[in-house]
Amino acid sequence: MLSKIHNLEDYAVAYRKSVNEPEKFWATVADSFVWRKKWDQVLDHDFEDYKVEWFKGGKLNITENCLDRHLLSRADKTAIHWVPNNPKEADRVLTYRQLHEEVCKTANMLKAQGVKKGDRVCLYMPMVPELAISVLACARIGAIHSVIFAGFSASALASRIEDAEAKVLLTANAAPRGAKIVPLKEIVNDALSQVSCIEKCIVLKRTDDPVEMKANRDVWWHDAMLTVSNECEAETMDSEDPLFILYTSGSTGKPKGVVHTTGGYMVYTAYTFQNVFQYEENDVYWCTADIGWITGHSYIVYGPLLAGATSVMFEGVPTYPDAGRFWRIVDRLKVNIFYTAPTAIRALMAQGLEYVELYKLDSLKVLGTVGEPINREAWEWYHQHIGKGHCPIVDTWWQTETGGIMISPIAGVLPTKPTYATLPLPGIQPVLLDADGNELEGKGVEGNLCVKYPWPSMLRTTWGDHERCKSTYFSTYKGYYFTGDGCRRDEDGYYRILGRVDDVMNVSGHRLGTAEIENAINMHDAVVESAVVGYPHPIKGQGIYSYVICDPEKLEVTTMEEIKQEISEMVIDKIGKIAKPEWIQIVRGLPKTRSGKIMRRILRKIAAGEFDNFGDTSTLLDPSIVESIKEGARREK
Ligand code: PRX
Repeated sequence: MLSKIHNLEDYAVAYRKSVNEPEKFWATVADSFVWRKKWDQVLDHDFEDYKVEWFKGGKLNITENCLDRHLLSRADKTAIHWVPNNPKEADRVLTYRQLHEEVCKTANMLKAQGVKKGDRVCLYMPMVPELAISVLACARIGAIHSVIFAGFSASALASRIEDAEAKVLLTANAAPRGAKIVPLKEIVNDALSQVSCIEKCIVLKRTDDPVEMKANRDVWWHDAMLTVSNECEAETMDSEDPLFILYTSGSTGKPKGVVHTTGGYMVYTAYTFQNVFQYEENDVYWCTADIGWITGHSYIVYGPLLAGATSVMFEGVPTYPDAGRFWRIVDRLKVNIFYTAPTAIRALMAQGLEYVELYKLDSLKVLGTVGEPINREAWEWYHQHIGKGHCPIVDTWWQTETGGIMISPIAGVLPTKPTYATLPLPGIQPVLLDADGNELEGKGVEGNLCVKYPWPSMLRTTWGDHERCKSTYFSTYKGYYFTGDGCRRDEDGYYRILGRVDDVMNVSGHRLGTAEIENAINMHDAVVESAVVGYPHPIKGQGIYSYVICDPEKLEVTTMEEIKQEISEMVIDKIGKIAKPEWIQIVRGLPKTRSGKIMRRILRKIAAGEFDNFGDTSTLLDPSIVESIKEGARREK
């Protein structure tokens, strides 16, 4: 059993040990897993010329830890309880024994389709059990999974497939989402016409919608599974072998493939799952994220299964068929631990209490939030109406790159404080740096959040481009991992995340780069230049506001409305609906300095509806531009 923190004293002891003797600390945690060969060295690292290796020389397979070792004592326990989008459809329950069998079968199916250790397999799927099963099946045979959120467009999918040079793509004919059905296979067909690396595309029949299958490339899932054996020996993996790639947005236009490896990721996700949520053996745990994001990887699949927990997996959306859906599921499945995003809380809050009051919610013990800052109103509402005043809320701060939760209360152990992620978990050494790279000591300070010592689940590289990893995370401040977030450490020493300090937005908990959206907008042939910023949005956290300069000749033949519509469609086409700008303002120029740099600070203010106190604008090339932008701001959508 993993070393568990039960009280403040335990936390203090664990934290101290993790800082004073990090290798000993993590070796003790790692000892509770099944290794085929123990490691030779716990940690080898260099933050200057970035390299990190944990449990070096160790051999293991993460699925033996997620599945096989539970077969002795938890074979008939529910591993995954799946709830479909349509409440009239039946749930699917997989015990550890059944999940083990399905993973082995799917692993054999992948092998039969030519997948080998080290190959990349792309998953573009609805939130169905087969998605979790395939993630584990890849891990079983040492293939590197790359899950792409099923809300991304064909061209976003194509560029991610191509970057990873994936050999096989797993998908479904369609994905039910709320009242809609997303035609996944149609999107896949479009994406695959743009890439050449995919040899096989395996298609799950999720609905009765007909699809076009391409001979020799496309195979129905049920056909591919017909003759496979249900036994599959797990591949021996090195602790540092890549487990998965997950693409995420940064401040440049091209999404990065964040790479996580096997041993350290396993140890850290299991440790944080059990401690942060104070998971106990018979708890029913539900994380509402999608497996297309890191939260789903670490806290729907790996963390809970490593702990032998029952993990609820939900295909639908919070408001379908009505805004009581989450709470109905909580009551029906007697969910004890519930983990969701602030944007979902705000959306449900806006629908009124009548959807909450119909439910008892008395099984809940611990509530969690993730993905974006939670505002005080949403925190209070969650605490009072969902947690009935007695469930601790763990506001968990972390990132795709960190692999697991970094700063968070430990449920019921560390006192919570609305809007604060509170304190670092054992093993995490956060620091706040000023613009010159000085560490800000003491309390009541604000700076850029960095981490000064490695932890087991930190990213190892960005796929195919290690230099990019170094320059993105390890060059801003020498010797530190830079998170991209601003942060305040208050008088109690508690951490409060203030949001990104780079050109990354957080829209409904989805991370999007401004440059990525600008690139898409600029592909419209009437567009000369554009600038995208985030602005505060009551439900989404941040909304997308785009300023666009159009070719005057094009504007003569097309109306502004038509162009705006086409720009929106362009963004949806290049990235997906999640990146659709809330506002598009056609402008005659952008506020640029004499050296040609856009003063985004001004654009952010205008987008937020603040029309004065722009600070020093003396370096602007043409100050009258600002006036004209102000006049045209937020008039029409
Ligand atoms: O800005 C922080 C915000 O989400 C970013 C990471 O996004 P992503 O890699 O998509 O991972 C999200 C799920 C772990 C961070 O840089 N963020 C995440 N959690 C919080 C948060 N901001 C404030 N409070 C949080 N609890």
